[in-house]
Amino acid sequence: MKLTLSVIKADIGGYVGHSASHPDILAKAGESLTKAKKTGLLIDYHVTQCGDDLQLIMTHQQGEENERIHKLAWDTFVEGTKLAKALKLYGAGQDLLSDAFSGNVKGMGPGVAEMEIEERPSEPVIVFMADKTSAGAWNMPLYKMFADPFNTIGLIIAPNMHTGFAFEVHDVKEHTKITLNTPEEIYDLLIFIGAPSRYAVKAVYSRETKEIAAVSSTQRLSLIAGRYVGKDDPVCIVRAQSQFPAVGEVLEPFSLPHLVEGWMRGSHHGPLMPVAIDDATPTRFDGPPRVTAAGFQLADGKLIGPRDMFADKSFDRTRQWANEVAEYMRRHGPFEPHRLPLEEMEYTTMPQVAKKLAKRFTKAD
Ligand code: 13P
Ligand code: 13P
Ligand code: MG
Ligand code: MG
Repeated sequence: MKLTLSVIKADIGGYVGHSASHPDILAKAGESLTKAKKTGLLIDYHVTQCGDDLQLIMTHQQGEENERIHKLAWDTFVEGTKLAKALKLYGAGQDLLSDAFSGNVKGMGPGVAEMEIEERPSEPVIVFMADKTSAGAWNMPLYKMFADPFNTIGLIIAPNMHTGFAFEVHDVKEHTKITLNTPEEIYDLLIFIGAPSRYAVKAVYSRETKEIAAVSSTQRLSLIAGRYVGKDDPVCIVRAQSQFPAVGEVLEPFSLPHLVEGWMRGSHHGPLMPVAIDDATPTRFDGPPRVTAAGFQLADGKLIGPRDMFADKSFDRTRQWANEVAEYMRRHGPFEPHRLPLEEMEYTTMPQVAKKLAKRFTKAD
């Protein structure tokens, strides 16, 4: 059975500030998707949040980039924005960069990760959602899951994984893409994906079966809007078990709270802290950045779940570590490398300040 799993998300208003989504907004989105399920457009859905981002997880048989599915998501966000405005939530409609829908939500603000699959006899999938960071945040975890045998022992001992995986990498500034094969091209791959502000892993494929293993959202809001409009808090879908990494191998990379871009005003580096879904409420200095993991078993398109995968106690130490790293980074205040590098500051006051003081810069020896 051909099935499409679509995760479409947007920040349509924060409660309070940028720290969470309001329960009424989630309920409203649920109503909209219930209707779509009744008409048969959706097989199933789950509405959730990560920080101030509203997440629509949907299964259907319309394929990827389908106009009806994207319009459903768009209309759900537009309706939610009306409610967000009535509640005067913070940044109501923040991620809706256009007034009119034109066939596809890509390039209009919302983040999208979709995969069309042939559902396996047992199909465990993990939907990762992050707040206060951007698309490149998945680069290191995806590399570890699919190319690092110190993380994924299956690469060595599972015969159907031993051929390795192919990584589709997008240059988010030039809008180009390249596919690199692991393990033989890992050095070439890492030179790019080690620069996550510019290069983001869009998808990963099994080289043995050519099937899709993972897909992420790679939208960059500031590059779409031409100005800073909040971070493009990303999502990522990963299939697990059998020809793919085991669930534990998929989660293991997040035991390191690696440094990502985002946090306060989208302008700082900070540790990505894996948390339970109810704990995705970035508060300290609007952070630190969060990642949640909703696990599902798909059953003829039905979403059996979610299981809140990072609620597990085995991630407690990572959370403590993340908070220590957060403290250490915060002590740097407005200094790099806590503050993002110059190039990433171009959407802030930096150009205005530089212009204002241009005449006072004189030649130095
Ligand atoms: P089970 O023997 O519990 O199915 O586990 C197999 C496995 O792959 C664990 O990572
Ligand atoms: P969001 O991108 O999650 O809306 O956060 C924006 C921000 O400025 C946080 O300080
Ligand atoms: Mg926000
Ligand atoms: Mg957000």
